[in-house]
Amino acid sequence: MKNFLNIKDISKSDLKKILIDAKQRKKLRKKLNTLEPDKGLPLKGKMLVQMFEKASSRTRISFYLAIKQLGGGTLTLRSNELHLGQGGETIADTAKILSTYGDGFMLRTDDDRKIEDFQKHLTIPLINGLSPSSHPTQVLSDIFTVEEIKKRPISKLKICWIGDSNNVLNSLIAASVKFSFRLSIGCPKKFAPGKKVKNWVSKNKKKIVIYHDPKKAAMDADVVFSDKVISLNDKVNKKRKKQQFKKFKIKKEIFKYTKKDCIFLHCLPRGDEVEESVFLGKNSHVWQQALNRVHVQKSILLYCFGKLR
Ligand code: CP
Ligand code: NVA
Repeated sequence: MKNFLNIKDISKSDLKKILIDAKQRKKLRKKLNTLEPDKGLPLKGKMLVQMFEKASSRTRISFYLAIKQLGGGTLTLRSNELHLGQGGETIADTAKILSTYGDGFMLRTDDDRKIEDFQKHLTIPLINGLSPSSHPTQVLSDIFTVEEIKKRPISKLKICWIGDSNNVLNSLIAASVKFSFRLSIGCPKKFAPGKKVKNWVSKNKKKIVIYHDPKKAAMDADVVFSDKVISLNDKVNKKRKKQQFKKFKIKKEIFKYTKKDCIFLHCLPRGDEVEESVFLGKNSHVWQQALNRVHVQKSILLYCFGKLR
């Protein structure tokens, strides 16, 4: 049994194995209907409990489809429906119960400590479905999408992130170390990655380049990523923060600086950090990106259940 909590804690070879498995499985499913299981039903009868302390559309539906296509099923809970959420039960007892009834647990939380606490007490695999500090399932799936579209290993590409230094960027930074790709970041000074992240990067002998000018960050990029300026956990003056990011809004002109065939990716939901003409434009692959979460999460589940081929 394995957990999937943070990209930085998973070995490079396991991350690559997950992507290879996802590629094969996606290919084999071409003629199957949405709810038809993969041949062999590798997770037959298994139940994934997923709990959301925060809103989710994609993560919820893609995990539902992922385990269903592997022969299992999900139970989706909101924390406020549980004794835990009402303050009447401990994480330790809740984890014991989840481990008694379920086979795996996916948690979207507003508190990183909860991931650690659940990990301590669960005896079933735990998956981080977004926390304030990371969004690993999203980013591993995004690596898959980049390689699928570009038909090249991501290590040969220049990746650019324009936006906030948030959970998704933290996971992308961790991925840049594991998959050895060039990463440039465009963000206002005040919202640059923090010391802890930068120290981890240098400890791992990697470099990320931070610009406070979006055009410089986008120079020669093969992929431009973005995300909302205001994340679910952001307790900031929203109006002021949006104003501080005004210069970083992604407009068509940014693609004058990137490589010609540069693609645009965004994990969704979107705010006004990107122009409609880009989001729905020819460089954008956001819908394919969202769909691929199903495929990659299937292989993440198999990794957690010790069933990866
Ligand atoms: N990208 C993503 O995680 O979307 P949801 O918040 O809708 O799950
Ligand atoms: N950074 C965003 C990602 C949403 C999928 C958030 O945390 O709200």
